[in-house]
Amino acid sequence: MVLEIKNGIYWVGVIDWEIRDFHGYGTPYGSTYNSYLIKDKKNVLIDTAKDYMFNELIYGISKLIDPKDLDYIVVNHVEKDHSGCVDKLVEISNATIITNEKGKEHLSLYYDTKDWDFVIVDTGDEISIGDRTLKFIRTPMLHWPDNMLTYCEEEKILFSNDAFGQHIASSERFDYEIGEGIFEHAKDYFANILMPYKMLIPDAIKAVKSLDIELICPSHGVIWREYINEIIEKYNDWATNKTKNKAVIVYDTMYNSTKKMAHAIAEGLMEKGVEVKIYRISETSLSRIMTEILDAKYVLIGSPTVNRNLYPEVGKFLAYMDCIRPLDKIGVAFGSYGWMECATEKIKNIFENLGFKIVDDECLTVRFAPKEEDLKKCCEFGKRLADIDL
Ligand code: FEO
Repeated sequence: MVLEIKNGIYWVGVIDWEIRDFHGYGTPYGSTYNSYLIKDKKNVLIDTAKDYMFNELIYGISKLIDPKDLDYIVVNHVEKDHSGCVDKLVEISNATIITNEKGKEHLSLYYDTKDWDFVIVDTGDEISIGDRTLKFIRTPMLHWPDNMLTYCEEEKILFSNDAFGQHIASSERFDYEIGEGIFEHAKDYFANILMPYKMLIPDAIKAVKSLDIELICPSHGVIWREYINEIIEKYNDWATNKTKNKAVIVYDTMYNSTKKMAHAIAEGLMEKGVEVKIYRISETSLSRIMTEILDAKYVLIGSPTVNRNLYPEVGKFLAYMDCIRPLDKIGVAFGSYGWMECATEKIKNIFENLGFKIVDDECLTVRFAPKEEDLKKCCEFGKRLADIDL
């Protein structure tokens, strides 16, 4: 499928309906790898797709031009979901690659680029492609050191690559076709792809806000047209840790003791009006949990102690959270144990590493199984937690 999104500018991307795991990030709705073709005095392709989707990509391009006639390929980002077809396209067309210094370096680490032609750009550089001009803005670490944005001033289009993306495979190509439900997909994407680098986002937003934009064309998901201001504001909120009065309780359990504690703490929090989400790790996608943590004030993690260690599922979750690095949360560790309590210390070590403010209480560890009075204490702790001002 191809779609003209503005006069002479086409979506020629591919839809990956079946992908369910994107480097550890669960993608229950699939994804797209969006490429855009600009037909001008020069034919320009902006980003490509994963290598296994080359046939679909070339099929779309071929509906509009002979792929041999590609003049430029803009590589906004070298991760293989966007650069995976560049080598084959260069072989066909001998197109010149437009990228930045880091992009060139990273391409050379994936491909044999010694015979490729490059134009190296940096923030503020412009390239005329005929009636239109492309401008470039570096956004390192959003998501790799090589990332950049490409802006077409005449058409008021920002080709944003990973920024503003969503992992959703759909027949719709624009935000308004999906409606406000698209923000949950964007939030999910932000939480799992961009959260580790969120401190860099305010500067990128400042640069984006300085542009006159009618379309934001990301490299995953739908194109932003109706909700441009809203998605920029949401990025600002997510990047600056604007939290809700919300607690995410994440646990796993061996004989239901830790589960009972989780539910008792939740009771106390809810009595005080805190929004609560509870997830048993072994039954929930890690990515889904991370999306809920994005705007939560409290993160509570529970684990039984197993042979002086964490319950394995909890260990897996903590490794994922340590990698995604949510910041500025209030952290609570809890759990049951038999003869030696070790799990909560390991959870607190991760909290410390992330700079969480830790709240502790002796009721948060229970031997074997919590009795009625232990659960009452957990409930009371939940109430106190809701009132703590840190
Ligand atoms: Fe969509 Fe960082 O690649």
